[in-house]
Amino acid sequence: MTIALGIGCDRGTPVDTLRHAVAQALARVQADWSDVSAVGSITLKADEPALCALAAEQGWAIRFYTPEQLAAVPVPNPSETVRRYTGTASVSEAAALMGAGAAPRDAADAAMALLLEKHKLKGEDGRNATVSVARVCGGRDDAQRLFTQEERESFHALLAARRDMRHFLPGQLLSSAVRERLMAAVHTAPSVGLMQPWRFLRITDASLREQLARAVDAERLRTAEALGPRAAEFLALKVEGLRECAELWVALLAPDDGTVFGRRTLPAQTAWCSAAAAVQNLWLAARAENLGMGWVSLFDPAEVARLLQLPEGAETLGLLCIGPVAHFYPAPMLSATGWRQARPREHLFGENTWGFGPEPVSVPG
Ligand SMILES: Cc1cc2nc3c(=O)[nH]c(=O)nc-3n(C[C@H](O)[C@H](O)[C@H](O)COP(=O)(O)O)c2cc1C
Repeated sequence: MTIALGIGCDRGTPVDTLRHAVAQALARVQADWSDVSAVGSITLKADEPALCALAAEQGWAIRFYTPEQLAAVPVPNPSETVRRYTGTASVSEAAALMGAGAAPRDAADAAMALLLEKHKLKGEDGRNATVSVARVCGGRDDAQRLFTQEERESFHALLAARRDMRHFLPGQLLSSAVRERLMAAVHTAPSVGLMQPWRFLRITDASLREQLARAVDAERLRTAEALGPRAAEFLALKVEGLRECAELWVALLAPDDGTVFGRRTLPAQTAWCSAAAAVQNLWLAARAENLGMGWVSLFDPAEVARLLQLPEGAETLGLLCIGPVAHFYPAPMLSATGWRQARPREHLFGENTWGFGPEPVSVPG
């Protein structure tokens, strides 16, 4: 566990009182002195002898925050009295949260990040020390980690910047470290009953890649035919980048392993959905690596099954083109080219019962 301490104290508090207050706070959260990675207080206390002595004793570099910085942090236990004397309604809670890198939106959020809100100790001389403890954000594998506002914004930027890409820079390679991170992202995907029905094949054989590309070429023509009046418009679109992309992965469904949990009534759908969730993880992880990914589903599944020597019951979900691109499309390519526009958000979310009205009649597409 890594924690941040926020410390406040009366002027002239003896170092023993301060040390004792911290020891009690650590005991209450079952932490040790060695778990402390940050200590904070207020600028008013930058020259407080007990704080300086404890810092020297423990090897801490205490961060002293201004009253304005501390006042901007929402806390569960603000105090009017503290505000009157210091200009901020909280010293220890706010300093602990700042030291932990937490950016709580409100007091409830702040309470989640605090392992110990306000631990107060009155020394024998009547002087008070207050200690708060916050969990340090940022431990990658910390299941309790709280994401900061900045991280939230990055995540939403990632969602908005993900595109289905068909144009790739030719002649590029992915490093094994990038590939490892992509596989790790897939491996964290949810799946029905923890079935993990997905399998991914990386196509490294150039002639196999070419045969898959030809299977897509053939299906592209059959799709154009099926589109009737929009055939020429469709054929003008680029719908895959199999030959140029740095890597070609095939997303597959393994033959059904008979998982029942969560699948009794929708066995096929839940397996497909689980595999799609894994592909979405890959899509986002690729974008986070500044790589494009294109999901290609234009192929005859029997033809692909034959090329990949799939066993009975295995299915192909998609051919995934992954690699560096010259630039990302600023909007879905299908809307930018006028093929189709995305539905407005308010048409897609309802409440309680189906109330979406009839689908508008559109040209085939
Ligand atoms: C299951 C699935 C299959 C897709 N197959 C193809 C495809 O064969 N060719 C293609 O150009 N785009 C394909 N796409 C990409 C969609 O056209 C694209 O996601 C959509 O137009 C929205 O654009 P965006 O992903 O850039 O937001 C597929 C997407 C999904 C989810």
